[in-house]
Amino acid sequence: MRIPEEEAAAATQMTSELAFLLAVVTSLQLHLAVDALGSASTVAMAYGTATVCGITAGNQNQRIQCYKGNEVISILPHVSFEAISGGKSFFCGLRTGGHSLHCWETNAGFSNHSFRPKRIYYSTRFPLTDLAVGDAQVCAREVGSGRGRCWRGLDKGGSLFPSPDAALEFQTITSGSGFSCGILKNNRSVWCWGSNGIGSKIQSQFRNLSMVSLVAGKSHVCGLTASGGALVCKGNNGAGQLEVPPNSAHEYSALALGASFTCGLRQKNGVVSCWGGGAEELNIQNTSNGSVSFELITAGSSMLCGLKTSNLTIMCWFKANKYSPAVLPLGMIIPGPCVQDPCSLCGVYPNSAFLCDGSGNICKSCQEELPFAVLLPKNPKSSPKKARNGLTVAFLIVGAIGGLAGACTILFCISNCLAASDHQELNINPSSGRSFSLTELAAATSNFSSENKIGAGSFGVVYKGELSDGTEVAIKRGETKSNEKQNAFSSELAALLRLNHKHLVGMVGYCPENDERLLVYEYMPNGSLHDHLHNKDYEVTVLNTWKMRIKIALDAARGIEYLHNYAVPPIIHRDIKSSNILLDRNFTAKVSDFGFSMMRHPEASTESAVGGTIGYIDPEYYVSKISTAKSDVYGLGIVLLEILTGKKAVFRDGGGEGVVTVAEFAVARIGGGEVWNVVDKRVRAAEMKEVEAVEMVACTAVQCVNLEGEERPSITDIVGNLEKALALCNSGELCDRL
Ligand SMILES: *[C@@H]1O[C@H](CO)[C@@H](O)[C@H](O)[C@H]1NC(C)=O
Ligand SMILES: *[C@@H]1O[C@H](CO)[C@@H](O)[C@H](O)[C@H]1NC(C)=O
Ligand SMILES: *[C@@H]1O[C@H](CO)[C@@H](O)[C@H](O)[C@H]1NC(C)=O
Ligand SMILES: *[C@@H]1O[C@H](CO)[C@@H](O)[C@H](O)[C@H]1NC(C)=O
Ligand SMILES: *[C@@H]1O[C@H](CO)[C@@H](O)[C@H](O)[C@H]1NC(C)=O
Ligand SMILES: *[C@@H]1O[C@H](CO)[C@@H](O)[C@H](O)[C@H]1NC(C)=O
Ligand SMILES: *[C@@H]1O[C@H](CO)[C@@H](O)[C@H](O)[C@H]1NC(C)=O
Ligand SMILES: *[C@@H]1O[C@H](CO)[C@@H](O)[C@H](O)[C@H]1NC(C)=O
Ligand SMILES: *[C@@H]1O[C@H](CO)[C@@H](O)[C@H](O)[C@H]1NC(C)=O
Repeated sequence: MRIPEEEAAAATQMTSELAFLLAVVTSLQLHLAVDALGSASTVAMAYGTATVCGITAGNQNQRIQCYKGNEVISILPHVSFEAISGGKSFFCGLRTGGHSLHCWETNAGFSNHSFRPKRIYYSTRFPLTDLAVGDAQVCAREVGSGRGRCWRGLDKGGSLFPSPDAALEFQTITSGSGFSCGILKNNRSVWCWGSNGIGSKIQSQFRNLSMVSLVAGKSHVCGLTASGGALVCKGNNGAGQLEVPPNSAHEYSALALGASFTCGLRQKNGVVSCWGGGAEELNIQNTSNGSVSFELITAGSSMLCGLKTSNLTIMCWFKANKYSPAVLPLGMIIPGPCVQDPCSLCGVYPNSAFLCDGSGNICKSCQEELPFAVLLPKNPKSSPKKARNGLTVAFLIVGAIGGLAGACTILFCISNCLAASDHQELNINPSSGRSFSLTELAAATSNFSSENKIGAGSFGVVYKGELSDGTEVAIKRGETKSNEKQNAFSSELAALLRLNHKHLVGMVGYCPENDERLLVYEYMPNGSLHDHLHNKDYEVTVLNTWKMRIKIALDAARGIEYLHNYAVPPIIHRDIKSSNILLDRNFTAKVSDFGFSMMRHPEASTESAVGGTIGYIDPEYYVSKISTAKSDVYGLGIVLLEILTGKKAVFRDGGGEGVVTVAEFAVARIGGGEVWNVVDKRVRAAEMKEVEAVEMVACTAVQCVNLEGEERPSITDIVGNLEKALALCNSGELCDRL
């Protein structure tokens, strides 16, 4: 179940974009709560003594009650707990806030009609989460550091249980019989430890998989993969417990693993289905008529309990009861912890104020996971055939970014859905641009005086002008090329004039007279990204936060996405660079200068000189002389590296020897996990929530500048990544969850 650490992350102020993202998340309801042997929940069992416990609803104190041998046992102390988890003969509870951890032996008989509590952890400085009790060990994760901590359980003769290396940071952990496993934050791979060999075996079986959730049983572990959300199980398959039914991706919202079976809660209807040995004995499908819906499930060696959706009571199947389902007399149990912070991620559970009796809310459990797509090379098979010339070595370096693989995943659906929302803002410009006379434009620019010159684009000189109605414009004046036909120019122009997007510099009109090629654009008062990053006359005050930089990157990516995917015909920009990314009054970034190279080289003619700007040119272009959409992606990758490092696309090395490209400077270091050694020091130190965002941008940039065009992400993938990065900046610890 969701733990308060994540609830605390609930950002109080959301951008509308994030709100939309969350709405998407909620509607998908793709989640995998970790409710099983060895994972924190609000229902737990000590299977060895057939004791089942739950955190009670309807009290200001979310205290624990247990059921054992036909008796209801009230657990002391009567204080609030956020999570409980059970082992073989004992169970443990994490107090609300995570500052202390208590365990109770269920085998020792009662003392004053209660199990005797034993506090095994207390710290005000290092609160815990992810309580994961195994057969005879207790593990939990430090909220801040992600470090895993383990203790020996209460079982008599239980051996000391090792903690994982303190340097490892976990995203989640789970405990089985004699082993525990977690997902590492840095690369989402599975790491296991313990007192028997099972953990290392399971770890090696998961070796190449990037996971987002994990649940342990006695000797097997299941979870969802980061790429595709498929359910995979590893470990002992003695009874077929690893044999996941086909088409499992996104099918289950929770898992419970026993000694030889695996059960999943179908996310669409909350119905349990199980496979593996003893699944028939459990006889779940038949005894529940396949129609009882559960909020969560948890398993012991050969028993299974679930919290019924209808009235939040616990229903169990266990041997002592011949596996016919029994509703335990424990009353209503909360389906998740009661938290004080507002729930932003997936909303508030119905009636949760009542369930918590005023002491907070229960946040709806939602996605541990969403369909992720990994941007790493998709079809490596196809690349070796291609001529690579001298690019192989660098390609290998680019490929070796496993250390950041976790940050390289993207939320596919989210990106698509958000992109869709963004595209609703765009529309086809109904007026096909205005036609200006040469006289009008001359008047607007004091006869194209040099004082009005504000720059030079690929198309020619750019002047600032003021039309007779006071509108400020930028006017581009191109050289005349007699061998290019005026009508070709005009038809291309018509296409450009129809483009109208928030992140493209708008074209106001053109001048069709004579051989003049004059194009009139909206004026962008705050200059170019290049100016702000590299021009000493500009202060970096505006671009001094990661959030602002990532927003500008996202704006630019959205402009390019429009050109590639929504313009008719599609347009390849061919000259993406930071000086073509302009900033309006509000620092919304817009892509400028699009379409000119298209006009210059219709049909991507082959004989033309190399187009583009040194430092930004797609290395494949040198070989093929053909620009593709992936050439723009390369250019954008260089822009992302500029944004990250503050270095120009090509710069003089500190030593004064020769010049270095920003890709040479940054790619291998980012790949080697040294993102924080290359970032622009002028930016305010990243807040905790921004760290993952910046790493994600770095990782995306590295993928964009892959020497192999095919292996670069599409612009849609990039937009998705940058949206996610920006959402992370806006949203506190959402990072941990998504
Ligand atoms: C049990 O109850 C007795 C009297 O009711 C009390 O003296 C004793 O301290 C209690 N023991 C525990 C462990 O709470
Ligand atoms: C993940 O990171 C850990 C620790 O940094 C490392 O030992 C392991 O090899 C990495 N796994 C993969 C698949 O990159
Ligand atoms: C892991 O990946 C490597 C190379 O990608 C491959 O050689 C190896 O067989 C894979 N291992 C497993 C267990 O799939
Ligand atoms: C459960 O029901 C199915 C038919 O719906 C039947 O084939 C199967 O034998 C039943 N299993 C048990 C254990 O009763
Ligand atoms: C299953 O259905 C039968 C008949 O429809 C009913 O008698 C029985 O109580 C149901 N069992 C459960 C567990 O809902
Ligand atoms: C919950 O529903 C079960 C039947 O499905 C019933 O036996 C039990 O009494 C109900 N519990 C509460 C607290 O209403
Ligand atoms: C521009 O040139 C025309 C003649 O070429 C002249 O009449 C006019 O005054 C000039 N305007 C400005 C603002 O210099
Ligand atoms: C951005 O443009 C606005 C409008 O021209 C101007 O007031 C503001 O000073 C500019 N900001 C910077 C940092 O240049
Ligand atoms: C800048 O933001 C203000 C307020 O949000 C808005 O009214 C204005 O239209 C924006 N200007 C531009 C050029 O987008």
